[in-house]
Amino acid sequence: MATYEPERTRNFYLLGDSQAEMVQLIKTDQLFTTAMGGLLPEQPEQEIAHLHDVLDIGCGPGGWLLEMAYANSRLHATGIDVSQGMIDYARALASANGLDNAQFHVANAIDPLDFPDGTFDLVNARQIEGAVPTAAWPPLVKEMVRVTRPGGIIRITSVEWGGVTNSTAFQTLERLMIGGATRAGLNHIPDERWLGATILRSRYLRDAGCVNIQERPSLLDFSAGSEYCQPMNQQWVIVFELIEPFLLATGVATKPEIERLRQQFSIDALEDSFRGILYMLTAWGEKP
Ligand SMILES: C[S@@+](CC[C@H](N)C(=O)[O-])C[C@H]1O[C@@H](n2cnc3c(N)ncnc32)[C@H](O)[C@@H]1O
Repeated sequence: MATYEPERTRNFYLLGDSQAEMVQLIKTDQLFTTAMGGLLPEQPEQEIAHLHDVLDIGCGPGGWLLEMAYANSRLHATGIDVSQGMIDYARALASANGLDNAQFHVANAIDPLDFPDGTFDLVNARQIEGAVPTAAWPPLVKEMVRVTRPGGIIRITSVEWGGVTNSTAFQTLERLMIGGATRAGLNHIPDERWLGATILRSRYLRDAGCVNIQERPSLLDFSAGSEYCQPMNQQWVIVFELIEPFLLATGVATKPEIERLRQQFSIDALEDSFRGILYMLTAWGEKP
């Protein structure tokens, strides 16, 4: 049985490191990119045309970065992730697709980034809000700025965990996850109903010296009848299994309670009346 032991593993990610997590990331990568309006929907065409070196932090199995590398063969794409399994998969996919402009390294984002100052035109991080402890965010964003070239972009997309649904089981599981996140040092605000990830990104960018900071919201509607309903609800079922070691380790729930909620959510998600929306925010700024 998987365990949640961040002090030993130095991996704070609440869903852990497993093949099942990799599978759900492979399945949902494209859904998130589409819901957000594309790979870099907020960046002007001329900005994208000038990109040469791109870093993706917490790249997972590499979906976003490999699409970037595929779309532009002049681009030199670098991905880092704490999980050896994710990096092995991303490398295998790059190789299978002949993308020799993409490289991947195992690295922990809570450590200083192992790149010289001013290496990248764009430093991206998507959905690592459940992985990096609150206290580690300001130093991480400073590091993201350090490795960016003057005039380059630092871009962070965060999900406000779980979203809002009309399933009592889902809402209860989400509240338990956020309660656990508070105990594990992953919550950004003193309110166990929200993770607060979205509201602080622009402040971290400002505090790290960025200018021209902007924000763009997006949402993913996974209600019954929507194109995202089935794939997202399959994903939630996996997430609610993977979250169990975290909920047990943080002492916010018991095994039978989690099991009961998981079963109830599987039923709720099949109802015609099921409604659910996930809210995301992309914040970006420029290195002066
Ligand atoms: C929710 S996934 C996001 C993956 C990808 N960025 C995406 O948007 O599809 C979070 C990723 O962060 C990685 N991760 C967790 N803790 C990390 C750390 N301390 N340093 C680097 N990567 C980390 C996990 O292994 C996982 O691949």
